[in-house]
Amino acid sequence: MKTEKGQPILNIRNLNIWYGDKGILSSLSFEVQEKQVTAFIGPANCGKSTLVRCFNRLNDFTPNFKFTGEILFKGSSLYAEQDATTVRKQIGMVFRRPTLFRGSIHENVAYAARISNVSRTSELNAIVEKNLRRTGLWNEVEGILDETPVQLSTGQQQLLCVARALAAEPEVLIFDEPCGELDPIETVKIETLMRELANDCTLIFATNKRRQAARVSDVAGFLYGGELIEFGATEKIFTNPQDSRTEQYVTGRMG
Ligand SMILES: Nc1ncnc2c1ncn2[C@@H]1O[C@H](COP(=O)(O)OP(=O)(O)OP(=O)(O)O)[C@@H](O)[C@H]1O
Ligand SMILES: [Mg+2]
Repeated sequence: MKTEKGQPILNIRNLNIWYGDKGILSSLSFEVQEKQVTAFIGPANCGKSTLVRCFNRLNDFTPNFKFTGEILFKGSSLYAEQDATTVRKQIGMVFRRPTLFRGSIHENVAYAARISNVSRTSELNAIVEKNLRRTGLWNEVEGILDETPVQLSTGQQQLLCVARALAAEPEVLIFDEPCGELDPIETVKIETLMRELANDCTLIFATNKRRQAARVSDVAGFLYGGELIEFGATEKIFTNPQDSRTEQYVTGRMG
């Protein structure tokens, strides 16, 4: 695990979130450091997904979503100064359930390059191969690139989603419960991959699996009762938490 601090890539200041009149999160302030893995943990419905979805503006589509406060990406407002499409090219997302597009395995991974106007076949093929190799999926799908990904196992489909997200060359990659549908062997593959990817990009993930946060993240935040109770080095959160509620949660006595 990396111990040195990177540069802040996301800066969250006094963030408050509502769905309609219902307050979900209040007064959140924290920084996400470049090329670190930051995990948000907490019991069901504490707002983990709501929070991480803000970072690629996915809540833009959610009726009733409202927020106040600032979310700065490399110093400029993710909402006020940038359009959502630009944000989503730089900040990618992988969901709990593999969300693949219609079309072949190749088309899924080539998608981001195509919408950035890469059209030469050789160039697209190189992008597809590179990103499938990064996820360790290349050898398994090399012979079936033109076929549908539906035939793949759930774990392979999730790796394909990561490859597709990586092909956009994002600076930040967000995972919301990335192993929620996976078996233990597939889970190890995704967790190992997440650690490797942190060499190149910043990772943020939401999980209700405490041990997963302990294994994979450098920094962790505990959300509970609408607040960010504690945020800091994962080792400290898990071995020497400052708040009694964090302690109860990480030791399994709560949630
Ligand atoms: N679109 C929505 N409209 C209204 N309320 C919502 C919406 N999405 C989520 N909520 C509510 O906001 C709260 C936080 O939900 P969220 O999905 O962010 O929690 P979570 O920590 O990700 O939970 P889980 O561990 O089950 O994934 C919950 O009470 C949920 O019911
Ligand atoms: Mg969730």
